[in-house]
Amino acid sequence: MANKTLGLEPNLYQYLLSVSLREPEILTQLRQETAQHPMAIMQIAPEQGQFMALLVQLMGAKKTLEVGVFTGYSTLAVALALPGDGKVIACDISEEYTSIALPYWREAGVADKIDLRIAPALETLDKLIAEETEGFDFAFIDADKSNYDGYYERALKLVRPGGLIAIDNVLWSGKVADTQVQDNRTEKIRALNQKLHQDERIYLSLVPIADGLTLALKRP
Ligand SMILES: C[S@@+](CC[C@H](N)C(=O)[O-])C[C@H]1O[C@@H](n2cnc3c(N)ncnc32)[C@H](O)[C@@H]1O
Repeated sequence: MANKTLGLEPNLYQYLLSVSLREPEILTQLRQETAQHPMAIMQIAPEQGQFMALLVQLMGAKKTLEVGVFTGYSTLAVALALPGDGKVIACDISEEYTSIALPYWREAGVADKIDLRIAPALETLDKLIAEETEGFDFAFIDADKSNYDGYYERALKLVRPGGLIAIDNVLWSGKVADTQVQDNRTEKIRALNQKLHQDERIYLSLVPIADGLTLALKRP
């Protein structure tokens, strides 16, 4: 599994999964189909999906936002953890990728909880802000890295005080810590990591699960 938690030896990673992963069958099926996809590396790791589901349950979240759906694994993990009247507004630009998700969401009985918006996510988020559709409990950011700062600033407006923003790939396969690597996406993630470290609007934790997941809790 390529998109696994960084830095663990394979046998320790397998052990972690063997004693902790409780992946619903429908998520396993979606993960297996996604594994055949040329862009499979983009999918979050199953232990991360389970962690995000736990966070959503811990918060009693109902209203959630996702930026970056791909084949719908993270959307499904969160939707399954929400109560019956919970909602995910799920943003992606690709009909092609997200069409793979739809039968799995239906099969899992959560399609009614998911409002898929196909458009550049900055536009969708700006529209939500303009409509004053605020008060989100939880937001997950996992789309194009060059817009990460824009997604973060908009998510910070959209979540309620005490709401949580989770930002994926913040360790970027270790490239953020390698000064030789200076490509645009790595620099964008580095800059956001630095900014969040100083950001007094949030409580912060960078969790070294999968490819690194920053948790930013909006201060009340
Ligand atoms: C890393 S994948 C998301 C993985 C997903 N969270 C999962 O668990 O499988 C990134 C997604 O962002 C989408 N994306 C890229 N640029 C975008 C943009 N400007 N607006 C919205 N979505 C975008 C891509 O189409 C892709 O599906």
